Amino acid sequence: MDALYLRRAMNKVIAGFILYFSFCADAFPQSVTFSEHVAPIVLTHCAPCHRPDGTAPFSLLSYKDVAKRASFVQHVTETRFMPPWKANPHYSTFANEKLLSDDEIKTIKDWVQSGTPAGPTEAMPTLPEFASNAQLKQKPDLVLTMREPFVIKGNNEETYICYKIPYELHSDMDAKAIEFIPGNRKVVHHVSYQILGVADEVDLYNSPDYFIFEDEDYIDDAHDYGFFKLYSADGKPPVETYHDGWLPGTSPHIYPEGVGFKVPKKGVFLIRNLHYGPSPIEQSDQSSIHIYFSEKPVERTILFSTFRPNGIDLTQDNIISADTVVKYHMNIKLNNDLSLLNINPHMHLLGKYFKSYAVLPTGDTLRLIEIKEWDFNWQEFYRFKKMLKIPKGSTIYAEAIFDNTRDNPNNPQNPPAPVYFERGMEDKDEMMRLTFLYLPYRNGDEDIDLENMWEKTLFK
Ligand code: HEC
Repeated sequence: MDALYLRRAMNKVIAGFILYFSFCADAFPQSVTFSEHVAPIVLTHCAPCHRPDGTAPFSLLSYKDVAKRASFVQHVTETRFMPPWKANPHYSTFANEKLLSDDEIKTIKDWVQSGTPAGPTEAMPTLPEFASNAQLKQKPDLVLTMREPFVIKGNNEETYICYKIPYELHSDMDAKAIEFIPGNRKVVHHVSYQILGVADEVDLYNSPDYFIFEDEDYIDDAHDYGFFKLYSADGKPPVETYHDGWLPGTSPHIYPEGVGFKVPKKGVFLIRNLHYGPSPIEQSDQSSIHIYFSEKPVERTILFSTFRPNGIDLTQDNIISADTVVKYHMNIKLNNDLSLLNINPHMHLLGKYFKSYAVLPTGDTLRLIEIKEWDFNWQEFYRFKKMLKIPKGSTIYAEAIFDNTRDNPNNPQNPPAPVYFERGMEDKDEMMRLTFLYLPYRNGDEDIDLENMWEKTLFK
């Protein structure tokens, strides 16, 4: 026997083994247990929300928690209803993706089908620490909290407030992350906020903490800055260094080293619009913001741009008629190279479908995002895995479908009635917005990793 023959013979044996074992594995599933196989999946992918104080209605921490809902858990994972992630992963992928792999889904299924065995106790992973409501595990450098809890009346009505949280630091700071922490997730519905620097002479405490929006009120800089007395002695408005938002499901905003925003020495964290959903009983909320300072100076300030559909004239009332399904389009031509970090599609309850892509000067299409079943309850600032270069001369397209018929189970009006477009109150109107977080392009940006940065979150 020569060496070559021997090797061929060995290869045959190995191939035989592989064949034999894979056949065995299919016919007699290896015993899948909770402590050994299922707990690591559930504790990483479900428990960050399914725990006491989490966003979800029940905990998925112990064997008992999961075993008593076993077939339900199998169903929601197989249908990919949970963990919630609305972007189509076959269209484009993201750094903050919350998805189970096909193998993980199968592990859960095998476990349920083999009668939910508990497995050896000593194999049970230690429970992660969920000390706070924050998704970011690192300790924040600055925590700003509403001075007093705001009381939401138990009258089943929507409430919108504008709330001021003043702060003073030793010097201007550079920040690399920010996370809004809703105080009471049962009622906090959405938030948009700003960081505003003020002049030295401004007295930050000489105005009420908040005002409540009346029916026809809308966000108005002159009114709001005047109300909180934020103008300088010579009449200059405060300077915005950052604006952002929180919606159910959104991840914290995290930037790579050297990218971020300024937190001026003296200013306010101004919650421009805090929407509380209706509640039949009195509730209270005291929300906070966590800010993470950057060790490296932030030399690239993150930019936000929000776009709305073509042909929308905000001086006119734009209406989606009752009993219609309509499609809106937008296109944005780029005059400069840019690096895209995050993308955030936004619609309200009539929204059904959203897609965005760029057509490059070469004629190639660059897919950005597709959401096949829009769900108002799960929105996200989708973060690309690496900075995405979109070259000058490209056009970014987006399309969105709205269903104002009875067939839309989320339609807030039954029978359907005309709905205004772009009036800003989510229970009464509709919106199509596409927000980009971006930077002017620099050489090498496409290699900057946005998936494995400095952060540690509950999900990894
Ligand atoms: C980002 C937070 C989050 C994550 C991660 C998450 N869930 Fe949920 N889950 C929720 C919320 C919130 C609800 C309630 C949704 C509702 O009432 O519409 C929910 C509901 C459920 C339900 C009930 C569904 C129903 O129709 O009532 C099941 C079962 C469930 N989750 C299982 C899981 C499992 C299993 C995982 C992990 C594989 C998981 N969830 C991950 C937030 C989350």
